[in-house]
Amino acid sequence: MRNRLPDVYYNPVSMIGGAIAIVSLGTVLFLFFVDLISERTAIYVGIITYIILPSILVLGLLLIPIGVYFQRRRERKFGKRDLNLPRIDLNDPRHRFAFSLFSLGTILLLLLTAIGSYRAYEYTDRTEFCGALCHEVMEPEYVTYLDSPHARVRCVDCHVGPGATWFVRSKLDGAYQVYATISDIYPRPIPTPIENLRPAQETCETCHWPLHFYGDKKRVENYFLSDRNNTQWSISLLMRTGGGMTETGPAEGIHWHMNIANTIEYAYIDQQREEIAWVRVEDMDGNVTEYFSTDYPVTNEELADLDTRVMDCMDCHNRPTHVFEPPVRSVNNSLAFNQLDHELPYIRRVAVDAIVGEYLTKDEALEEIDEYITNYYRTNYPRVYGERQVSVEQAVREVQRIYSRNFFPTMNVSWRVYPNQIGHLEYPGCFRCHANNMFSPDGKEISSECNDCHIVMAQGEGPPRRQLTIDGLEFEHPVDIGDAWKYVACHTCHTGS
Ligand code: HEC
Ligand code: HEC
Ligand code: HEC
Ligand code: HEC
Ligand code: HEC
Ligand code: HEC
Repeated sequence: MRNRLPDVYYNPVSMIGGAIAIVSLGTVLFLFFVDLISERTAIYVGIITYIILPSILVLGLLLIPIGVYFQRRRERKFGKRDLNLPRIDLNDPRHRFAFSLFSLGTILLLLLTAIGSYRAYEYTDRTEFCGALCHEVMEPEYVTYLDSPHARVRCVDCHVGPGATWFVRSKLDGAYQVYATISDIYPRPIPTPIENLRPAQETCETCHWPLHFYGDKKRVENYFLSDRNNTQWSISLLMRTGGGMTETGPAEGIHWHMNIANTIEYAYIDQQREEIAWVRVEDMDGNVTEYFSTDYPVTNEELADLDTRVMDCMDCHNRPTHVFEPPVRSVNNSLAFNQLDHELPYIRRVAVDAIVGEYLTKDEALEEIDEYITNYYRTNYPRVYGERQVSVEQAVREVQRIYSRNFFPTMNVSWRVYPNQIGHLEYPGCFRCHANNMFSPDGKEISSECNDCHIVMAQGEGPPRRQLTIDGLEFEHPVDIGDAWKYVACHTCHTGS
């Protein structure tokens, strides 16, 4: 066969390079086509199509000039030619062919690179890429995400946001994370609060705009006590969410005070930002008030050394999407939705106990939950077990579901490691600052009036009541603990289990 390219190209290295390039290009094109026509391709196909194969393709292409270079050196050494630079002679048909091939090839490659890098960009921004690829590492966040109000919001809309700088930062961080995952050196659990999370103004506020919020929101909560009858207790709260737009309603409420009217800065002692020592408020007119904690008293020198932070959405909404529910909450919800049979004696307590057992793996947990609940009723309530075996089996499945949704033993993740600061029942939340614990030097206090943040409209045993009042009732604790709830922060007793 006649050689159609100049002889220097016919060296083993260049030819292997060429072959690699052609094969990987063919495969990329094929997979690309598959990706285009199929609705959902497997996540691993993407990483091959847009990351691994293109790298191999480039490697193959690089081998061609490398081979040429060494071939030329070899030829020079044996005195075949004395040229230093290649000479292109378009009158020579072989040169002409090589020239056309390379020009065409380059144009094609540039075009494919443009499409390919766009697809690669799109691909690495996809939720499946972030959530499902590194399955074990991201499973807790992905599972909770799919179950959240933000399930249709892409990971990158909160974690990266718009603009080039954060895009580059995130891809660089991402590259390290891939490395950490492959070499198995990632922390379990992933520590939070995330340092360097993009400020909420640039992420959350691209969709939510508290300045334009208004009004209060009714919120009904159902609880069940740990007694034999699983007694129901419910409360209706009017949440004074508020906002700040005079055209849409009076400027007031939680968002008004905390986000819009005031800039709030605080100094914290611990990594979780739960031990707050000092708070500084600056209102719209520039008046400044400082509050000092009585729970965590510090000297001025100590204060100067503490980290500070300006409060934003994430100081309250730190779990807008990855919510790891405390077991009592999940079980209350299942009872409220009739997924657990109220007629099973002590089911509230039994379910919670089964969930919080010490388990090393998910499989072990699912098995032992089954054993625990079944044995409990079989031994303690054989008659109930006989009559309501179906309910017991249903309870096992429901408790297993709760476990799978909220516990990730291989990553050491549960409600214990990721507090949710939006309320104050199981975590300090609002009571980090609003619990008779913050005073200014002239005696002002950050309010801890129950009715400043919400109004109790109805409460008591049984399902939610229809008779509501907006004058606000005084809270009555479901079980008699005297006045303790007024003086002891709720989360000291309510640990979630
Ligand atoms: C609605 C916005 C939002 C979306 C969408 C979102 N996250 Fe998050 N994510 C957050 C916030 C807020 C935090 C907690 C930040 C903190 O406490 O510092 C967080 C924390 C995390 C953490 C740290 C561990 C933890 O649980 O705190 C990981 C990992 C994570 N997200 C991964 C993902 C993945 C993967 C997706 C997509 C499947 C995703 N996130 C979607 C807002 C979001
Ligand atoms: C890409 C748009 C988008 C971004 C970014 C976004 N959200 Fe949302 N968020 C939504 C949508 C849409 C809903 C309503 C979902 C529904 O009601 O079904 C929502 C709902 C909410 C709710 C109400 C949830 C509930 O239980 O009713 C809160 C609180 C919230 N978002 C906070 C945040 C915070 C905090 C951030 C930033 C970390 C954020 N969001 C970022 C689109 C977004
Ligand atoms: C001081 C704490 C705090 C801060 C800061 C805060 N929020 Fe909220 N937000 C709340 C509370 C409390 C609610 C009511 C939750 C409920 O329904 O129980 C709420 C409700 C919401 C809702 C749901 C509104 C509705 O009517 O259902 C959205 C969306 C929201 N906040 C977004 C934001 C965004 C975006 C920011 C940052 C600009 C922000 N919040 C800052 C405490 C806060
Ligand atoms: C870092 C400390 C801190 C945290 C945490 C915090 N707040 Fe505040 N809050 C303040 C400060 C400071 C003020 C303003 C006090 C003043 O007027 O001088 C304030 C004021 C308010 C007000 C207005 C009260 C009034 O006097 O009428 C509301 C409502 C409010 N916060 C709700 C919340 C809610 C809801 C949460 C939890 C989701 C929360 N705050 C968490 C520091 C905090
Ligand atoms: C600084 C604001 C603030 C103060 C003060 C406050 N709460 Fe709350 N409370 C909240 C918020 C915010 C939630 C809603 C949490 C959520 O969205 O899940 C809440 C929720 C609740 C709930 C429902 C519990 C749950 O999370 O299921 C009860 C009950 C309650 N509060 C009682 C009280 C009582 C009693 C007091 C007075 C001792 C009080 N609160 C003071 C902000 C406050
Ligand atoms: C001294 C300890 C203690 C304090 C402080 C306390 N509680 Fe309780 N609370 C209990 C006990 C004990 C129960 C009964 C638990 C059960 O039957 O499972 C209970 C039950 C409840 C329940 C219904 C059961 C459930 O699912 O959680 C609610 C709601 C509740 N408390 C709200 C609050 C609120 C809000 C505060 C703070 C304002 C508070 N409690 C402070 C001890 C306490």
